[in-house]
Order: sequence, then structure tokens, then C-alpha cells
Amino acid sequence: MTAVSDLTTVRVGRVREIATRLRERRGALLPILHAVQAELGHIDTVDLPVIADVLNLSVAEVHGVVTFYKDFRREPAGRATVRICQAEACQAVGARELADHARQRLGVGFGETTPDGAVSLDEVFCLGNCALGPAVQVGERLHGRVSRARLDVLLGEVSR
Ligand code: FES
Repeated sequence: MTAVSDLTTVRVGRVREIATRLRERRGALLPILHAVQAELGHIDTVDLPVIADVLNLSVAEVHGVVTFYKDFRREPAGRATVRICQAEACQAVGARELADHARQRLGVGFGETTPDGAVSLDEVFCLGNCALGPAVQVGERLHGRVSRARLDVLLGEVSR
């Protein structure tokens, strides 16, 4: 057995444990998907039939939910995650233009990861920092009044 299939076997086993633990919850699919992503970083293609089996759903139903909600990442996250607030207060002070700048600079869109695996770019709707928009979160750290120049510095720090 190869190392990759070993990892897949471990992952699938863990997904089954999580799904089985949460299956009795009302609307169990979403809590299961959130728990899998929180523990394993993303929802992988191999997870779908396992979750479908535990909940007695079709794989298509699980896939539909995973692709409908932007919250679910379908590939491993980058080493750093950059989240740019796109809610109203931040939009009023240039968050859309800041997002355009980030997409151009990184060469990826929201929900995507740079090919070198360094940075995942995400949109978020309010980081609770509305008075200091545009707000950007890099990893666990929140930044306010982020200009393009400041964003370039932040992206430079995590793109190495
Ligand atoms: S609207 Fe951007 S932090 Fe609240």
C-alpha cells in the first residue's frame, strides 16, 4: 500500500467517525461538513461517499451542499489564509477595489490557493472591524484601514 492511500484510509476513517458522532443532530449534514473542515482542513472528494453513506444520502446531495456553500473549501488551504471583508461598511471604503488588487497580485480568485500553496484568498462578510475598514484578516491577525500598499506588504510577508 502506498503512503498516499494510507493517508486516504486514515482520512476516510476519521471522516466516518465524525459523521457517525454527529449523525443524530438535526440537519446533520452541515455540522458534519463544518466539523470535517475544522479538523481536516477541507472537504475532499473522498469524504463525500463516506458522509453520504452515514447519512443515507446520495453522493450528489452531499456534493450539492458542499458546492452551494462558499464556506466549504474543496482543496487544502494554503500555508496562509488572507480574508478580505466584502460586507457593506468595508465596501463603502474600497474593499471591492482592494479585492481586485489582491486577485491581480496573487493571480487567484476568492476560494482559491496560489499554485505554490503559499496563500489562500477568501472573502468574508464582516470581521467585526467595520469602523476600521477595509478590514483584512491574515491568519489569525486582523488588520484595519488596509490600503493597497499595506496589502502588498501583508501579501509579501505570507507569499515567501
Ligand atoms: S463590514 Fe467589514 S468588518 Fe464589518
